Amino acid sequence: QTEISRVRNLGHIQMGAFEMEPWYFSPYPSTFTAAETVYICEFCLSYFDSNQTFTRHRSKCTLLHPPGNEIYRDSSVSFFEIDGRRQRRWCRNLCLLSKLFLDHKTLYYDVDPFLFYCMTTRDEHGCHLVGYFSKEKESAEGYNVACILTLPQYQRKGYGKLLIAFSYELSKREGKLGSPEKPLSDLGLLGYRAYWAETVTDVLLDHEKNSKDGKGSGEISVEEIGALSAMTTNDVLHTLQNLNMLRYSKGQHVIVLTEAVLEAKEKAKAKEKAKGLTKRRIEPERLTWRPPV
Ligand code: COA
Ligand code: NA
Repeated sequence: QTEISRVRNLGHIQMGAFEMEPWYFSPYPSTFTAAETVYICEFCLSYFDSNQTFTRHRSKCTLLHPPGNEIYRDSSVSFFEIDGRRQRRWCRNLCLLSKLFLDHKTLYYDVDPFLFYCMTTRDEHGCHLVGYFSKEKESAEGYNVACILTLPQYQRKGYGKLLIAFSYELSKREGKLGSPEKPLSDLGLLGYRAYWAETVTDVLLDHEKNSKDGKGSGEISVEEIGALSAMTTNDVLHTLQNLNMLRYSKGQHVIVLTEAVLEAKEKAKAKEKAKGLTKRRIEPERLTWRPPV
């Protein structure tokens, strides 16, 4: 664990088909600061300070996807699970890369205690890294995400929500409630708030529909919402409060689906349609994964 509070040190990086500008400092070799462009192999995440050494590397690199098990595949994305201890070099390279976009003061060189869940898109050239989250193998605090990142070229397209949804899907399989490690960055908080609001609203709408169909009772508790979403009671409560859906009656919580929330839901749908985005979802039946023992 190293203190990092230095200024941005790399000008440009090139990775796969993309060129990007780092946001923050990351402890790449100090000589790299002088390079016009730093080249990152999009598959093994090795780094080079000249096109020549990078090209030489590319002619030898055989990796076509993150070095782990593919545990989820649908028509658009694949997820790979990578063990920090078994793929130490790769995971350290991933941490170096993601530090460019994370304002943490600390960087964990010790990747051994973590699993890395990497989301990729597939084409004829291979599986291209879109984003990832890390997760402690044992979290005393019950965190289901340590670090989460969508690479900048893929941000604001719904991939962050998909990563978050995937992290909760793993928690469901574990039979646990989960929450991300605190503190969250500003962007992290925005992403989570959006996911939580949507998830809680969907659970309530679903419940309402089932009640109308004669399945289940009319009431749902904060704990039940948590159990259905793998969200902690605390996160459900805060979400309901933020959405102004929590009322008190006779000393008890009452959850109300407000007109404003339903309108927001319709707006979000219309926005997705306008953007031409098909809603990205995790399909639980496609997850071939059991909690590591
Ligand atoms: N401004 C305002 N709202 C934002 C936002 C931004 N720049 N980025 C995300 N959001 C909110 C929006 O509500 C968005 O939904 P919308 O696009 O329909 O309005 C919602 O978050 C989800 O966006 P999505 O496209 O699914 O997320 P993403 O792929 O951009 O990834 C992060 C979100 C947090 C993973 C990404 O911003 C990131 O990697 N940031 C840098 C690393 C970081 O800070 N990680 C968190 C550490 S705790
Ligand atoms: Na953070």
